[in-house]
Amino acid sequence: MSDMQTIQWFPGHMTKTKRQIQANLRLVDAVAEIIDARIPVSSRNPDLDKLIQNKPRVILMNKCDMANRTATKMWIDHYASQGITAIAVDCKSGTGLNKFPQAVNTVMKEKIDRLKSKGMKNPTMRIMIVGIPNVGKSSFINRISKQNRAKVEDRPGVTRGNQWFTISNNLEMLDTPGVLWPKFDDKLVGEHLAFTGAVKDQVIDIELLAVRLLDFLKQLKPADFISRFKLEKLDLDNTDSYELLSMIGKKRGMLVSGGEIDTERAAIMLLDEFRAAKLGRITVEMPNGELK
Ligand code: G4P
Repeated sequence: MSDMQTIQWFPGHMTKTKRQIQANLRLVDAVAEIIDARIPVSSRNPDLDKLIQNKPRVILMNKCDMANRTATKMWIDHYASQGITAIAVDCKSGTGLNKFPQAVNTVMKEKIDRLKSKGMKNPTMRIMIVGIPNVGKSSFINRISKQNRAKVEDRPGVTRGNQWFTISNNLEMLDTPGVLWPKFDDKLVGEHLAFTGAVKDQVIDIELLAVRLLDFLKQLKPADFISRFKLEKLDLDNTDSYELLSMIGKKRGMLVSGGEIDTERAAIMLLDEFRAAKLGRITVEMPNGELK
């Protein structure tokens, strides 16, 4: 596992990463962009469009096991309305991965047809994975390469050391993912990445983060969150989020000596439970909601 802090995104590093990705892009026909289905806006790289230019792309909405089903469907429809193919996947269990080869074939149809019309029988398409840290790139590659053990030998023109895996009879995948940075200059993006645990907690005020999460949950009112903390009788709209954090801590018996409520422990617990989807399958960002 990697995280935003161990990867230091200083400008020099970003340039180097960009160059590596550009070099690998020359070897592939299409790109599979992995995003987090709970935060489809914040988990995307702001410069990807520019980087991949006109290369066909498939979006993999990963961790869909933790996202709201209806929201994921809305996102897929939203991408479709922009002419982008997206599929929902869960790289932990492997759910949805069987749709991947078909999705790539869809976006590559034009090129495949063109090559076939030139007499090529079954043209092989090559693809690479890109995504921000923690989004599930290694999980995806591990799963798909395990399901498809056959390793392809290096070929002329292919950088030595690169490994290719056969995914289906006409699809090969580069073993090395492109690691991209999120849009960290946006405060809300940082917050949403932190909700999901993509950003390390040590650098964040954990109680503040929990309060911000509660601001969001108070609006959304997910049933599992309400029942888990027995908030049925509470007027959530008129309860201050810090107050709510204290109440949650109290309900869980999180007290420090003197009888005060340990809000820090409550904050850690709340975030842990959110990240494990114990408060429900929650999507934080919707296609119609703008990030302010
Ligand atoms: P990266 O290469 O993009 O940095 O991400 P990586 O695959 O390491 O995944 C980051 C974390 O997200 C891992 O958890 C991984 O198990 C989890 N993950 C990846 N895909 C999914 C998914 O579809 N659903 C769920 N629920 N989790 C997913 P970890 O805490 O680092 O390790 P562990 O929990 O696997 O032990």
